[in-house]
Amino acid sequence: MSTPSRLGLIIGSTRPQRFADKPADWLLEQADKREDLTLDRLDLRDFELPFFAEATTNLHAPSADPKVRAWQDAIRPYDGYIFVVAEYNHSITAALKNALDQAYVEWVRKPFSAFGYGSTGGARAVEHLRGIGVELQMVPSKFGAHIGGSDLFRVHPFGGNAPMSDIADAIQPSVDAMFSDLVWWSRTLSAARAAS
Ligand SMILES: Cc1cc2nc3c(=O)[nH]c(=O)nc-3n(C[C@H](O)[C@H](O)[C@H](O)COP(=O)(O)O)c2cc1C
Repeated sequence: MSTPSRLGLIIGSTRPQRFADKPADWLLEQADKREDLTLDRLDLRDFELPFFAEATTNLHAPSADPKVRAWQDAIRPYDGYIFVVAEYNHSITAALKNALDQAYVEWVRKPFSAFGYGSTGGARAVEHLRGIGVELQMVPSKFGAHIGGSDLFRVHPFGGNAPMSDIADAIQPSVDAMFSDLVWWSRTLSAARAAS
């Protein structure tokens, strides 16, 4: 058995009444059942990042703000990432975009996927995220999990507020594929980074 891939779960919504915790908590439970990965919660709320105000990205110079450096320190150890993606006006949240911009070298040549939600499962936001990730030299996985349409209405507090277990059958295959693909990429890229 190989060493489990170390993945970070980055929660992209920071608003007080966010729905994000419900899918995030459920995904962490699913990750606990697997032996090939670990998944740690990285909640943007905990980092209180300022809007980007550095001279440049840390590709070119170390960041000055201690909160920005704390964020970089937190994400650095991970082999790959899953973003919990709320769709705000067809894109990712401003908080998540800011957090992505506040690091660079920590993201390079690492894989990521997304657990999106919204009327269309957050698909439009996740597509934006994939493009942003490429610019950060990340590797977006084809596989992602999405909660959309009637499934979202069932579990969202604005709808039925049912437990995530009510829609688990619908999303579990996507979640399994996402985990497996991220493990493959994180093993492959970790080895390649170590060798280069
Ligand atoms: C500013 C804003 C913009 C939104 N835009 C979209 C959108 O483009 N597509 C969509 O499906 N849902 C949209 N929604 C609804 C969100 O999917 C829903 O509010 C969701 O709960 C947001 O995630 P959060 O609760 O974790 O912050 C929007 C919500 C907000 C607050």
